[in-house]
Amino acid sequence: MVKRILVQDHVDPTILSDKLVFPTSKRIVRNRFLKSALTELCAPWNPSNPDINGLPHDVHVNMYEKWSAGGAGVVVTGNIMVDQNHLESPGNTMIAKELDSPIRREIFSKIASKAKKHGALIIGQLGNAGRQTQRVVNPHPYSSSDVPLKIKNVGIRGFGTPKALTSEQVQTEIIDEFVFAAKFLFDVGFDGVQLHGAHGYMIAQFLSRTTNKRTDKYGGSSKNRARIIVDIYNAIRKEIPVETGFVVGIKLNSVEFQEEGLTNNEAVEIAQKIDNIGLDFIELPGGTYEDFKFKHRRETTVKREAFFLEFADKIKPAIKNAIVYVTGGFRTVPAMVQAIKENATDGIGLGRPITQDFDLPYQIINGLTQSAAEWPFADDYNSALFACTLQMCQAGLTEYSPEKGVNYGIMDLTDKRTLMEYQQVQNEIVHLIAKKAEEGKFLLSIIPYQLNQKQFICEGTIPEI
Ligand SMILES: Cc1cc2nc3c(=O)[nH]c(=O)nc-3n(C[C@H](O)[C@H](O)[C@H](O)COP(=O)(O)O)c2cc1C
Repeated sequence: MVKRILVQDHVDPTILSDKLVFPTSKRIVRNRFLKSALTELCAPWNPSNPDINGLPHDVHVNMYEKWSAGGAGVVVTGNIMVDQNHLESPGNTMIAKELDSPIRREIFSKIASKAKKHGALIIGQLGNAGRQTQRVVNPHPYSSSDVPLKIKNVGIRGFGTPKALTSEQVQTEIIDEFVFAAKFLFDVGFDGVQLHGAHGYMIAQFLSRTTNKRTDKYGGSSKNRARIIVDIYNAIRKEIPVETGFVVGIKLNSVEFQEEGLTNNEAVEIAQKIDNIGLDFIELPGGTYEDFKFKHRRETTVKREAFFLEFADKIKPAIKNAIVYVTGGFRTVPAMVQAIKENATDGIGLGRPITQDFDLPYQIINGLTQSAAEWPFADDYNSALFACTLQMCQAGLTEYSPEKGVNYGIMDLTDKRTLMEYQQVQNEIVHLIAKKAEEGKFLLSIIPYQLNQKQFICEGTIPEI
């Protein structure tokens, strides 16, 4: 039995089951919960073989069916990369013109149909990592400008100095690729897409003054920096008109905690600019690779749980059309209900808690729990990556069955013994990764704990930069 965060004063969760209406597509969402994007990292990475590179498999199908059966109104996939040379990580799923095939269409179509069967809207998150492409994937990535990450290149972790995209390349390498992937997902039955405009990835690189030094129509004023979103959105709508009911949303930082980063005021300006183009929803998290803040910075946000609420507080009133989801830190029903009642957000995004309980929305809405499971790793993002991706794979190894339930096979990280055993295996893998790195080799693996012998490993050589 999973141990839960203690809640002293229970509150009525009914408001969380309110339906939402997406303003442009007019799609109705069955409740206020959004399963936020969580990179799965278990697709094959094989750049020389387009047939299998970034191809999802049944593990993905099963996990998305389970999240939908688990009650979330919207289920967003982990970032699907629209360019095989600009991955967030090996192990990402990918959609690109040169990777297109009937098999790829079939498996994405299976993900869509299985997820839709249980009533959630299934939304593919589309991303391009830009300068945050790891050097093992591409030591010379593109970005909005040639500003390198201020991160030490150590072991397998390392990023090359990016090349600035020309104006023409913004069209061919960015806009056209997002449009191709959106059309692909529309054709195979997805309900919509979410543009990944947060966490310092390519779109965010255009938005932020830190990374955008351009002098063309995509640089300078916040209006110009936001133009990339407007152009991608309009190009998608040309291919997939509003009348189709296809949803287009975005994940947008509410603030970046870095010098010259996106300030909260600029995020407000940008949100205002893109709100009237027709986006159905805007999800607000915060942070970049250089300073990931999936943690609390101030006492006030600790009380309200969600890390970015005080920044979202300013953005929300500026957004008149799109449905707003705040993601990051929500763990108890009282805090979720309070945020809705205060009009700080329309919906609740869930990340880490929803890999222990795929059905957390169902449990909350049906009064079975008032909180998420206890989380053992505090603010450690790497541990979250290891633990959550393993839990996702564990869930994905078996098909959905109502008898077994959606959480079947997921390790219980609130059980001391399980946690100890798991951490031991994790330490062994981390040690192996470090040892390989010393030999100039790169290894990425889902932690092989309670995985029924199946392993998901990407390997390669670390290039010089
Ligand atoms: C394992 C893991 C994978 C993630 N992958 C993505 C991703 O692919 N795209 C994205 O926009 N955010 C990603 N995130 C961020 C989450 O969507 C979410 O914003 C963050 O975990 C904060 O929410 P939480 O406090 O509910 O976990 C990831 C987070 C974790 C822990």
